[in-house]
Amino acid sequence: MQPNKKTLMGSFSIFISILFISASASAQNDNKTNITVHLDSMSVLINANIYGQFSEHLGSCIYGGIWVGEDSPIPNTRGIRNDVIEALKKLKVPVLRWPGGCFADEYHWKDGIGPREKRPKMVNTNWGGVVEDNSFGTHEFLDLCELIGAEPYISANLGSGTVQEFADWIQYTTSNGDNPMANLRRQNGREKPWEVKYWGIGNESWGCGGRMRPEYYADLMRRYSTFAKNYSDNQIYKIAVGPNVDDTTWTRVVMQNGGNAFHGMALHYYTNNSRPAADFAEAGWFDVIKKTLRMEELIGMHSVIMDQYDPGKKIALIVDEWGTWHNVEPGTNPSFLYQQNTLRDALVAASNFNIFHKHADRVRMTNIAQMVNVLQAMILTNDEKMLLTPTFYVFEMFQKHQDAIHLPMEISAPDYRYQGEAIPAVNASASIDSKGLIHVSLANVDPNQAQKVSIAVRDFKNKIVRASLLTADKMNAMNTFDHPGQVVPTVFSEYKISGGILETTLPSKSVVMFELEGKIDSKIGAARKIDHPKPQLKYAYYQGVFMNLPDFADMQILREGLVGQFVMPPDHGGSDFAVKYSGYIKIPVDGFYNFYANSDDGARIYINDKLVVNNDGRHAPIEVKGFAVLNAGFHKIEAEFFQAGGGLAFDISIEGPGLEKQIIPAGMLFHSND
Ligand code: AHR
Repeated sequence: MQPNKKTLMGSFSIFISILFISASASAQNDNKTNITVHLDSMSVLINANIYGQFSEHLGSCIYGGIWVGEDSPIPNTRGIRNDVIEALKKLKVPVLRWPGGCFADEYHWKDGIGPREKRPKMVNTNWGGVVEDNSFGTHEFLDLCELIGAEPYISANLGSGTVQEFADWIQYTTSNGDNPMANLRRQNGREKPWEVKYWGIGNESWGCGGRMRPEYYADLMRRYSTFAKNYSDNQIYKIAVGPNVDDTTWTRVVMQNGGNAFHGMALHYYTNNSRPAADFAEAGWFDVIKKTLRMEELIGMHSVIMDQYDPGKKIALIVDEWGTWHNVEPGTNPSFLYQQNTLRDALVAASNFNIFHKHADRVRMTNIAQMVNVLQAMILTNDEKMLLTPTFYVFEMFQKHQDAIHLPMEISAPDYRYQGEAIPAVNASASIDSKGLIHVSLANVDPNQAQKVSIAVRDFKNKIVRASLLTADKMNAMNTFDHPGQVVPTVFSEYKISGGILETTLPSKSVVMFELEGKIDSKIGAARKIDHPKPQLKYAYYQGVFMNLPDFADMQILREGLVGQFVMPPDHGGSDFAVKYSGYIKIPVDGFYNFYANSDDGARIYINDKLVVNNDGRHAPIEVKGFAVLNAGFHKIEAEFFQAGGGLAFDISIEGPGLEKQIIPAGMLFHSND
């Protein structure tokens, strides 16, 4: 089957066909892939940060790839390449990690601020011994983040820096006060602080970051963490160094000894391949895909340990370095890690994302290594030329999964066999977004055989299908500066509906994204019958000193009563208390409803016993969104809130068909004594 070659180049919705599916399928394996997607168990958000990236002072990632300087003939904005900015904006990069990598543990940030001509130089000992002139520093990085709309993630120097340097960096970037670092920032031309939520406490401290034992690292991390202060409204999210590949001892020791000192733990796993990036045969294809699929096993083994210490999954597993690591391109500096990027890399990216989505309850950020010109890059540059890699296009096609709700699926796929070894030929994942659109992403990793696939989405009547495809004739097809359009997404139209099931044939070595628009079965958002609904919600009031929402079942209620809306109960005392609200919400018409919890400190919303919004943790006012499919009528609603001192804020809003975003009015809230 030949794919339609009409180029998508960024737009997803060119082809539309009208179809009707009433889905139901069995997942028997008749030499085709059978997929059943379940709408009734949707719950976990695919954090947009799973689509994060990483940029290090390494080779030509920063210098040449991103930063060319204000005087460069290459069009730029305050020194940052315009072509790169425009390309990255298309990916909606949610978060960007910097300045390393191994570089981070020899980086002294104060060398990278102030007038550029006065900045001291250093030697980049990790990456080729080149001279780093520090012309790209904190201001330039945060400017880049603002230009592309990404949240910054700064990896701090634990290996050769000091706690004071770390604390100063946070004060410099995030404080609005009258203090030495904020004043230094103002002197350097930036009046307002930035928001820098994500801070890494070291990088690979088991290796280039200091060759520490996990016991020593855990203690040191606790110490650094203590001096990571929140200024103004900036609430720091601390990311501890996690395991190298399958080092479960590291995971266990840091989880056990790390106290409450961190919010996320970073796993590093590369698809290592000591072969060329573009010149390979099937052995190289198979080996790289097989190694990539190991990500699932690794996430599983570290999650099991994290679950033992953190069953509530408060600590995220953050895969902040992943991707292919091939041999460098012949003739390039071996320390610069410059590699081409082929269709095989696209399959690696797609397969990793399908794995990350499946584990979205624990994996809440990942950062591919790296953004430009290094390892599995989105973008390659050569002086004024720039190209977008096959990996870039996977990020573009898959961005529909960002902040959507993961939909569990059953999948049975035939094997792709090579020289006595086998891996599943097809991998996939699915999500539903706040407009009710379902996205199913698929990777056929078999380089020889097209794969028949049936997709049944239970409880869903499909009306419109849109699809895009990334493939090429050769396994090692790639984009080059002379031929930048060899591997680009195209409209995909090779599918039909048969017996209510979407039947398709994925070309060999391809990535496909389906977008399904239709009607969800009424049982998914089923309302309940309430015999004697009365206005107002019930509340229960508790006291205690909390870092996070407590387990209310284990606590003693101090007071109970009724409130008209989600507001503070009377005589709440101002600090160190928690409230649990319960009742029913009356929904006017069937549809998708967004719920927003704006709180200081933590809050959660449950609808019909499912967690819909999680805004837990000690923090300044932050609004977090979630959504639910609800039919007209009554639905159980519960909310939890805690206050730990400092500012206090709490409100819950709703938005839905014919309902502009508003604080849930008293007229929609009820309780029952039956
Ligand atoms: O991404 C290249 C390097 O790989 C990073 O600097 C380091 O953290 C890892 O070993």
